[in-house]
Amino acid sequence: MAVKIENVGVLGCGLMGSGIVEVAAKAGFDVKVREVSDEALDAGKARIRKSLDRAVKKGKLADDDAKVAWTRIGFTTQVAELADRDLVIEAVVEDLEVKNELFQELDELCPPETIFASNTSSLTITDMAAATQRPSRTVGLHFFNPVPVMKLVEVVRTIVTEDEVFDAVFEFAGSLGKEPITARDNSGFVVNLLLVPYMLDAIRQLERGVATVEDMDKAMVLGCGHPMGPFTLCDFVGIDTLHRISEIMYEEYREERYAPPPLLKRIISLGRFGRKSGKGFYDWSGDEPVPLPV
Ligand code: CAA
Ligand code: NAD
Repeated sequence: MAVKIENVGVLGCGLMGSGIVEVAAKAGFDVKVREVSDEALDAGKARIRKSLDRAVKKGKLADDDAKVAWTRIGFTTQVAELADRDLVIEAVVEDLEVKNELFQELDELCPPETIFASNTSSLTITDMAAATQRPSRTVGLHFFNPVPVMKLVEVVRTIVTEDEVFDAVFEFAGSLGKEPITARDNSGFVVNLLLVPYMLDAIRQLERGVATVEDMDKAMVLGCGHPMGPFTLCDFVGIDTLHRISEIMYEEYREERYAPPPLLKRIISLGRFGRKSGKGFYDWSGDEPVPLPV
């Protein structure tokens, strides 16, 4: 079956979806993105606009190129509008049922050539591929946050992925200016297998009273040269998303290092989802993040 990627569909315009839309539009692809409501679509639109404006202000993108990129993006709340896409990348909430429902809906709408990709952090691609009628054309395309800045994309193949499909998607990731690597289809791929236990361990050490949130962040930035400390990173990823990832990886491996620490659940109960909601381990509403009680 023919493999071509000339246009792209994105499901979800949250933290990751908005970044994927932006990098694809900047690379010259026609992109359509679908959100669940007008409010969510407006929030995603504003996020892309802000990021493009920031790139122009910093001299990283010409004003004209930003304008052209913007015209390449279509916004919709209708899944059916993605029926003409060569590649559809889902970046919705980390929930297998939600992702599979969407892929099954699209399976009926898209021609058999359309390639499905998931930006999942911790689910397996096989569990999504098997729910579609195109398992050999379903792959993983795992971007990193913030998408416009982070260079890596993990391209994930399952044991049934067609070589031509994998090669086309790998090349697509490169055409976005990213560095693709090949990852096997295991929960957490490469990066999250290592990074998720690190973030969860920081929360466990906080529960044990090792040091404050601020000092532990300072320790990893100044002591190890990390760009941000573990709690800033948790807020950055999203506390709700980290919790889902942790539950999925724990369910998969049954290893304690992936288990959600109780404090993570308490913070979610308080509605503190991280930087995207204004509060997580820190309060992000002012100019500088302020540590919150934990
Ligand atoms: N959108 C677009 N550009 C952004 C941005 C955003 N949201 N945030 C920062 N930038 C750009 C800035 O414009 C700036 O560019 P210049 O250097 O050209 O000026 C550059 O990134 C650095 O930004 P700042 O100087 O404002 O801030 P910083 O030096 O603190 O860097 C950071 C910000 C790049 C996010 C850096 O802190 C960092 O690399 N943090 C670690 C991020 C990380 O680990 N991501 C992976 C998360 S895990 C994941 O994604 C996988 C998963 O499945 C959960
Ligand atoms: P987010 O909460 O910022 O955004 C998720 C978006 O999906 C929301 O805007 C929501 O309205 C939308 N959505 C929910 N159901 C939908 C549907 N049926 N159709 C269309 N949109 C729908 O989450 P995020 O951080 O962007 O994460 C999205 C995916 O990317 C998850 O699978 C996550 O694990 C993965 N991921 C996240 C990060 C990160 O650092 N946050 C990094 C890499 C991968």
